[in-house]
Amino acid sequence: MSSVILLAWYANLNKLNLTVLQFFFYTAGYHLLQPILNYNLESKSKKEEKSIKNQRDVFNEINLLKNKISELEISLEQAEFRVPKTFPNIKFLNYKDRKRILVTGGAGFVGSHLVDYLMREGHEVIVVDNFFTGRKRNVEHWIGHGNFELIHHDIVNPLLIEVDEIYHLASPASPPHYMLNPVKTIKTNTVGTINMLGLARRVNARILIASTSEVYGDPEIHPQSESYWGHVNPIGPRACYDEGKRVAETLSYAYAKQEKVQVRVARIFNTYGPRMHMNDGRVVSNFILQALQNESITIYGHGKQTRSFQYVSDLVDGLVALMNSSYTLPINLGNPVEHTIDEFAQIIKSIVNGADSSIRYLPAVEDDPQRRRPDITRAKKYLNWEPKISLDAGLRKAVEYFRREILRSSMPIFPKVSPRNSDKELW
Ligand SMILES: NC(=O)c1ccc[n+]([C@@H]2O[C@H](COP(=O)([O-])OP(=O)(O)OC[C@H]3O[C@@H](n4cnc5c(N)ncnc54)[C@H](O)[C@@H]3O)[C@@H](O)[C@H]2O)c1
Repeated sequence: MSSVILLAWYANLNKLNLTVLQFFFYTAGYHLLQPILNYNLESKSKKEEKSIKNQRDVFNEINLLKNKISELEISLEQAEFRVPKTFPNIKFLNYKDRKRILVTGGAGFVGSHLVDYLMREGHEVIVVDNFFTGRKRNVEHWIGHGNFELIHHDIVNPLLIEVDEIYHLASPASPPHYMLNPVKTIKTNTVGTINMLGLARRVNARILIASTSEVYGDPEIHPQSESYWGHVNPIGPRACYDEGKRVAETLSYAYAKQEKVQVRVARIFNTYGPRMHMNDGRVVSNFILQALQNESITIYGHGKQTRSFQYVSDLVDGLVALMNSSYTLPINLGNPVEHTIDEFAQIIKSIVNGADSSIRYLPAVEDDPQRRRPDITRAKKYLNWEPKISLDAGLRKAVEYFRREILRSSMPIFPKVSPRNSDKELW
């Protein structure tokens, strides 16, 4: 620094010109700053080296953990292999009585209960499902059992398989599900049903078609007996399902007449119970969910419309009785005890202890039937069948199931909002 001051003094003495002076100052400044610049560059590269080393350490750590996880997975698999899975008890059936039974839609709500029944009886059961609304969890207790097989397959595509009986249940069943992709719903119920009837014809299997009370549409007669032809809007939002099922019935009787296929047709009314879809937008699930979570219970319309609900084990008994019977015309399977939606909301509130949910009324759902009650005279006469489980007993089991499912889920489960008259975006 002192040399710079000396230089300035000397320059002043000797009257050196300004450019020469500037040159000297720049050179001096450069020499002064260089060590500082060098120091900064060195510390930066040291920091980079350190962070690269840190990153390398983290990667090594991750790789070590990955290796440990795969080691644990392998030992878990080996442990599972050593400890045989325990299955629910089943009856022993000899070769002559044991049937190979295909259940389409067997991973769904009704299908999985039917599978439980057939497995317990000692039959061989093959489930075919595309898991659109079904879940592996519904049948996981049978996976690995020698009598059980699960096939991931969409019935819109043909299936070649050797079976003695087919319960054809594959189809979305609740309005939010079947309206999500109406064309697929129609294909499943038409092309899918043709595939199943074709399979039944080829292997000479008896086939039961799961039809629905929706074939009666918004009925003009009450209660609905099987001889009633129905009141269906062919272009309404429910038509993909209602008309799909009507065609499925028509196809069944065409195959029966022309191809001598043994068909059974069950017209199923509202069914509830464990494993039903938590947020399928149906009355039972919506009300239970809302009551359990202390939300207000939503009723679409005035609440005086009626429904009758059957517990799922009653339906399974009815399906099996129909399959084993010689009765070939459609048959209603449902619980004739009728409740208004208002009454129903009150019953659920009283079962869900401590539910202080209020009741909220919203505009009615388009084409929502006002009254629905099965006439089950045929089922009583030809199948010797009628529902046994009371609404109270059945709802308690359903509420318990919902309670457990809510606990399993870390987030609140919101009921689906059913499409209303104003929801034109459906089209
Ligand atoms: N639950 C009821 O209240 C009720 C009422 C009337 C009729 N039904 C009929 O009973 C049957 C079963 O209903 P659910 O309540 O168990 O419904 P769900 O939705 O629980 O079960 C239907 C099953 O079919 C499967 N599926 C759908 N499309 C398929 C396809 N293309 N290929 C293969 N699998 C497919 C789904 O993944 C699901 O596992 C349906 O045919 C339904 O129409 C049910």
